[in-house]
Amino acid sequence: MQKITIAIDGYSSCGKSTLAKALAQRLNYSYIDTGAMYRAVTRYAIQHQLMDPLTHLINYESLLQALEHIEVNFQFNTHSHVSETYLNGVNVERDIRTMQISENVSKISSIKEVREKMVALQRKMGRSKGVVMDGRDIGTHVFPHAELKLFMTADTTVRAMRRLNELSSKGQYYTIEEVKHNLLSRDYEDSHRKENPLIQAKDAIVLDNTDLSREEQLEFVLRLIADMQLTKDPLSTVK
Ligand code: DC
Repeated sequence: MQKITIAIDGYSSCGKSTLAKALAQRLNYSYIDTGAMYRAVTRYAIQHQLMDPLTHLINYESLLQALEHIEVNFQFNTHSHVSETYLNGVNVERDIRTMQISENVSKISSIKEVREKMVALQRKMGRSKGVVMDGRDIGTHVFPHAELKLFMTADTTVRAMRRLNELSSKGQYYTIEEVKHNLLSRDYEDSHRKENPLIQAKDAIVLDNTDLSREEQLEFVLRLIADMQLTKDPLSTVK
């Protein structure tokens, strides 16, 4: 079967990465979590005092100079069977999932030069197809010719509960209001920024997973792919 590019965009905590990982595993594709890349840059900025995590103030000049020293990549962990994020050779998979990073990442990801660098890396990582990439601008900007584009959404309270459970499973405790506030403010900032904002691609298929199990979502997408392969060879016509 011909390998394709699968772009998954959508709001925060909609289960994009859960679905993307399951798809990549099932199809034997690689999985790229582009949000992790922006989170890693945010971690670098905070760690090197280029950003104040409380006021969100950024030293733009120093950050832009530092960009060439920021290397983000992924390595597959053969024990946990997940690909993990590395920042300048250090595994930061756990450190980038904290509330502090979530509260600062939208500001960092709105910077043009940061996006240019990350998008170039993402295109390089996905150039051979056979990739599932999730984020905010994958179907609209990173891979506008992706053969399959999904736009994920879900009820806000359901999303906040999912994120709350994820955080508490890692020993990070917040109220549902705090988590909801973070999700909504990130959604707002991500949708209203100047550079490649989060918008639904015209040719994206909307997947509202409020009432869907993980298995149902996976089945839904696998069926879409099977249907695509059956129709008049659409994959070979899309560049
Ligand atoms: O998917 P996530 O919640 O880990 O993403 C963290 C932030 O990174 C998100 O709030 C917006 C930003 N992001 C982005 O601007 N573009 C992407 N392609 C992916 C994430």
